[in-house]
Amino acid sequence: MQTDQKSLLCPELKLYKKGKVREVYDFDDKLLIVATDSISAFDVVLPSLIPGKGGLLNKISNFWFDFSKDMIKNHIISAEIADFPGECAKYNEILKDRSVLVWKTEMVEMEAIVRGYLSGSGYKDYLKSGAICGIKLPPGLKESAKLEEPLFTPSTKAETGHDMNIDEQELRKVIDGAIVDTIKEKSLQLYKTAADYALSKGIIIADTKFEFGLLNGEIILIDEVLTPDSSRFWPADEYMPGQSQQSYDKQIIRNYLSTLDWDKTPPGPQLPEEIIRNTLAKYEEVYQKLSS
Ligand SMILES: Nc1ncnc2c1ncn2[C@@H]1O[C@H](COP(=O)(O)OP(=O)(O)OP(=O)(O)O)[C@@H](O)[C@H]1O
Ligand SMILES: [Mg+2]
Repeated sequence: MQTDQKSLLCPELKLYKKGKVREVYDFDDKLLIVATDSISAFDVVLPSLIPGKGGLLNKISNFWFDFSKDMIKNHIISAEIADFPGECAKYNEILKDRSVLVWKTEMVEMEAIVRGYLSGSGYKDYLKSGAICGIKLPPGLKESAKLEEPLFTPSTKAETGHDMNIDEQELRKVIDGAIVDTIKEKSLQLYKTAADYALSKGIIIADTKFEFGLLNGEIILIDEVLTPDSSRFWPADEYMPGQSQQSYDKQIIRNYLSTLDWDKTPPGPQLPEEIIRNTLAKYEEVYQKLSS
């Protein structure tokens, strides 16, 4: 993606990568990951901001990094602006609450997806082939059904366009088998522990995507963890298999967008104040529920 330097939150820092809703800055052996207040719907970044969203996403991710730190090492150095490199100081007001300083790792080029429920591309693959990533499932499962056991359904990290689900056997041809073994074991353990915990707080984490990197030869957890941006969060008290579920965080926006005549291609429409306010409240609710 071509990035206009001036459009960045910190235009004078060295950009490492800009995604849809995060900006990553380069500090040699470290990275600064900054969650913006942007929001995407149907893969389109909307022109409206949700002020406070980036900070909440960052808090949710940091909550899980802390929650899982005895299961697996992670990339976090600090979430405190006082610990950030000196060049960041002029952006302190912007960076506060929404940023983490992390170790730069050599990325393992895969998305470690775990699914506890049948939804999204997993459900589509199941309808077509009765399987996800080569894992056969029993016939007759409904959309959004809870799976007997969570599945590890990795995908390749595509530079452009959509990531592709990949058979574990195929994955082992491109990524070292011992690395795949560790990532699979850790991903399933992380998902199961976190999903049980979240369910006790009224949130279903239907599926999620982890990323891992190598630091001094060790596999560690990187990127963001178990946020509504990297996972499907559903309100547990509205769960109803046999249909698609309401999204915990984006349903308000999706419902609003469905009232418009918008074809889901950029540019997306502006959001009314009320929709912005109610959406932010959902992110606050998720953080409060998880951290209480
Ligand atoms: N500790 C780390 N070491 C190396 N790379 C990292 C680390 N943590 C995160 N990354 C990488 O930083 C990038 C963050 O980009 P981001 O997720 O915002 O955008 P994206 O994945 O390109 O697109 P999208 O907006 O669709 O998610 C990812 O490529 C991620 O793999
Ligand atoms: Mg990403």
